[in-house]
Amino acid sequence: MSQSFTANSGSVALIIGASSGIAKAIIAALIKQDTATDIKHLISISQSATAETKLANESTNPITQQHISCDYSADAIATLCQQLQPFKGKITRVFICNGRLHNQYQMTGAATGSASENTVSKTLPFKTIAPEKRLEDVNPEAMQALFESNTITPMLWLQYLVKLVAGKQGCIINVLSARVGSISDNRLGGWYSYRASKAALNMLIKTAAIEYARRAKNVKLIAFHPGTTDTPLSKPFQANVPAEKLFTAEFVASQLLNINNAIKEAGSESSEDDNAEIDRIYYDGQASFIDWQGKLISW
Ligand SMILES: NC(=O)c1ccc[n+]([C@@H]2O[C@H](COP(=O)([O-])OP(=O)(O)OC[C@H]3O[C@@H](n4cnc5c(N)ncnc54)[C@H](OP(=O)(O)O)[C@@H]3O)[C@@H](O)[C@H]2O)c1
Repeated sequence: MSQSFTANSGSVALIIGASSGIAKAIIAALIKQDTATDIKHLISISQSATAETKLANESTNPITQQHISCDYSADAIATLCQQLQPFKGKITRVFICNGRLHNQYQMTGAATGSASENTVSKTLPFKTIAPEKRLEDVNPEAMQALFESNTITPMLWLQYLVKLVAGKQGCIINVLSARVGSISDNRLGGWYSYRASKAALNMLIKTAAIEYARRAKNVKLIAFHPGTTDTPLSKPFQANVPAEKLFTAEFVASQLLNINNAIKEAGSESSEDDNAEIDRIYYDGQASFIDWQGKLISW
């Protein structure tokens, strides 16, 4: 990885796992400035070599964009964060969007619309990753794969970002989690690996926040539940979701950006906002688990 980085003036947003449906909508909203933010430079990071959401009118757009590919190994993340040093003190928003639930598209090449366990041809070189319905479905390799992408990768980012985001500018790190990762809210069971990977992610966010409080005290960590959102991740499970409960990625991105703005505003001395729930999030400590409405979820 040999990339050069030049610090522009203005605030910087990092969007990690940038090929995700929700990440792409966040990038598009930031580029179009649908929600007012002070972001002037976007850095998208993904396994993909190129940005899937690109800046239109590059020469006239006040926002600049840079894409970096990363294989999410610890070495690659460490090197990349080292190279991002010119942006130290300027990063005000981070969105860590990595997360997998199944590998149905990799397996079949197209959504089948069904979560059937046996949609995979045995000749394909992939292990089935599908949400488990019962204990017998648990497969150690699939479980490890989900922990790798859903828990360990975001944790490595939290590990290496701490020095980059520290500073007076203040930063909100949004990590895409899921309500099913709430231990206290678990009524339905099933989905062992995804649930556990998100519960472990939440614990890591909460734990990291305690250390961030000492080392990067102007940083707020958010474990964010987007609600069921129309992306490849939810595609096989959308059949029974009522239309009004299946969100577009654009809606979720706009909710998250507005919640971030409200949290930032709640922390400013000039705040006249009287949104009690946002105040609760602001005073909740350095980590909060919230949903797309900006409502706290119990860990
Ligand atoms: N959609 C929903 O209904 C829903 C509901 C609750 C929570 N969420 C959470 O929201 C987040 C975004 O989901 P989405 O619906 O936008 O998903 P998506 O479109 O399916 O995107 C998948 C994401 O996972 C990353 N990824 C894929 N393989 C990976 C690997 N081997 N290692 C690390 N990362 C890998 C991708 O990063 P690259 O860009 O690097 O490929 C991308 O960020 C996820 O954390 C998900 O769990 C979604």
